[in-house]
Amino acid sequence: MLVLTAMIAMPAFAADKERIPDVSAPASAPAASVAGATTVGRETCATCHAEKAEAFDKTFHGRKSPSNSKLANACESCHGAGSAHVDGGGDVSKIINPKKLDAAAAADLCMTCHKDKSLMMWKTGAHSQNDLSCVTCHSVHEGEGRKSLTKGGTETCLQCHKKQKADMNLSSHHPLPEGKMACVSCHNPHGGIEGNLKADSLEEQCATCHSEKIGPFANEHPPVADGCNNCHAVHGSTNDRLLKMPVQVLCMSCHRKQHSGFTAATAVGTWTQRERCTDCHREIHGSNRDPYFVR
Ligand code: HEC
Ligand code: HEC
Ligand code: HEC
Ligand code: HEC
Ligand code: HEC
Ligand code: HEC
Ligand code: HEC
Ligand code: HEC
Ligand code: HEC
Ligand code: HEC
Repeated sequence: MLVLTAMIAMPAFAADKERIPDVSAPASAPAASVAGATTVGRETCATCHAEKAEAFDKTFHGRKSPSNSKLANACESCHGAGSAHVDGGGDVSKIINPKKLDAAAAADLCMTCHKDKSLMMWKTGAHSQNDLSCVTCHSVHEGEGRKSLTKGGTETCLQCHKKQKADMNLSSHHPLPEGKMACVSCHNPHGGIEGNLKADSLEEQCATCHSEKIGPFANEHPPVADGCNNCHAVHGSTNDRLLKMPVQVLCMSCHRKQHSGFTAATAVGTWTQRERCTDCHREIHGSNRDPYFVR
């Protein structure tokens, strides 16, 4: 009965938001009806929802239901005790449909069971703040795979994030279109300390795969420690190596002074046509051997 108690403990529905689109139902119906009802068991639900019940058994929750005590009440673990709904011949105002709850109430429902670490930042995250709900991305009944996603991993995100969709198809990109990485390689869709990233900061995120670029080095190149995004456009770029600008323009945007042995005019002129700054300054992220990052 642990689950049932948790349902009743769900926050009272706010009056200013219509959480249940069914106008015939008073705003507090689902929680109240659960309080008055008793559990009837999966087989009773299946008498009217045969297809749904059969399909449910194949989902991740369905497969876990026989063995996991949190799901011991099967359908009613999430939908609330069903006797009133059944007695009413399928009265929709006497059963919880998470899809009809508002975003916060749906999240509270899922989170009565889910205390995963990745959900710790949910309430302060950009998605929760913008009224996304768990069931925007997950579908218990129709979802794909173990994570029960409405669409495959990255496809889920691209429904809304059109700019990143365009960026990841530019000539230089992380291998997302190739299927070797996903948005969730870097992002926690549930929220994070900085920009929904999985790590605590941008540098730590990059370091999980590119630690050799971070140092520490005897000779640091200051903009590197300051942020990889000083030079890289992480979602995609028309310049090689995910650079924000063509490499010469990028270097010259900070190094306006005349180059040793070269005049400013030649620096942006003749030799730069063939030689890039990084043809000589090869260790641009920092070097233990050379203060000029030449080796
Ligand atoms: C006597 C038949 C009957 C039984 C038994 C029954 N239902 Fe229903 N249920 C219905 C009908 C009819 C509807 C409304 C039409 C529809 O959506 O299929 C419905 C709708 C629902 C909905 C959608 C509500 C909405 O707001 O759209 C849910 C969720 C649901 N039932 C869950 C259950 C669960 C869980 C059980 C077992 C505890 C159960 N039902 C048992 C007949 C039944
Ligand atoms: C882990 C939670 C969970 C369990 C367990 C669960 N459901 Fe659901 N159910 C949901 C959610 C969430 C939705 C909203 C649609 C979605 O996400 O797929 C839903 C929607 C429904 C609907 C409405 C369908 C619609 O299209 O709106 C019915 C009917 C239903 N469930 C019946 C059942 C039956 C029958 C069982 C048991 C065999 C069951 N559910 C078990 C979470 C659950
Ligand atoms: C009544 C308890 C309960 C509720 C409510 C519930 N779940 Fe679950 N969920 C579970 C259990 C138990 C598992 C299996 C955990 C395991 O074995 O790792 C699970 C597994 C999952 C997984 C896969 C976890 C993994 O580690 O891969 C996802 C995703 C998930 N649930 C999403 C949801 C969403 C979204 C909702 C709300 C619509 C929801 N759940 C509601 C009990 C619940
Ligand atoms: C913006 C889309 C999105 C929203 C909103 C969302 N999720 Fe997820 N969730 C995902 C994706 C994508 C994954 C798979 C992450 C991965 O594979 O690393 C996931 C994974 C999970 C897992 C498995 C554990 C993990 O972190 O990998 C659980 C449990 C889960 N989500 C529950 C929830 C609950 C509960 C909510 C609402 C409070 C929610 N999700 C909201 C997209 C979302
Ligand atoms: C239903 C639409 C929708 C879906 C699906 C969605 N997002 Fe979002 N996302 C938003 C909105 C709205 C915002 C807040 C406004 C903005 O920054 O664009 C946001 C913000 C973000 C942010 C910025 C966070 C910040 O603090 O600046 C990241 C990162 C993000 N989403 C990643 C993802 C990932 C990864 C997925 C897929 C797992 C995903 N989103 C799926 C709508 C969505
Ligand atoms: C290689 C790691 C990585 C991958 C993969 C990735 N992102 Fe990001 N994302 C970041 C970083 C780092 C930031 C912060 C960018 C900044 O501050 O310059 C960010 C920022 C964002 C933002 C906030 C707006 C912005 O552009 O600053 C959104 C929205 C977003 N990402 C969505 C996505 C989506 C959708 C995908 C999948 C198509 C994705 N990201 C893949 C690392 C990544
Ligand atoms: C989950 C692992 C992962 C994370 C995290 C990650 N990357 Fe990458 N990165 C890759 C892979 C894989 C490639 C492609 C390597 C290849 O093609 O040989 C790549 C390539 C690159 C490239 C070279 C692109 C090119 O055209 O050759 C740059 C620049 C880069 N990443 C920067 C970053 C930055 C900045 C971050 C942090 C925001 C980051 N990466 C986070 C895996 C990651
Ligand atoms: C001062 C500008 C600048 C900053 C800041 C910077 N990079 Fe780079 N990065 C470059 C340039 C320029 C290249 C291309 C080098 C070349 O073409 O030889 C590059 C190439 C790369 C590559 C691909 C080439 C390779 O050697 O594998 C990766 C990966 C990379 N950077 C990761 C990072 C990470 C991670 C950070 C943050 C710790 C970072 N960069 C910060 C300028 C920068
Ligand atoms: C965001 C600004 C920024 C960008 C972009 C940048 N640098 Fe730097 N670079 C610095 C700073 C700051 C120093 C520390 C010395 C200083 O203050 O002039 C430095 C130092 C250096 C040094 C060591 C010599 C010295 O003056 O101490 C070299 C060589 C160098 N950069 C080359 C490059 C090249 C080549 C590029 C392009 C790939 C580049 N930098 C891009 C800011 C930048
Ligand atoms: C042909 C090789 C070569 C190319 C190309 C090159 N450099 Fe250098 N650069 C060097 C060497 C070698 C040094 C070491 C100091 C010296 O010998 O004058 C140096 C020194 C520097 C310094 C520190 C000394 C100073 O003059 O302030 C900066 C900053 C610098 N280069 C930036 C750049 C930028 C920006 C570009 C591209 C526009 C570039 N370099 C292209 C070889 C090169």
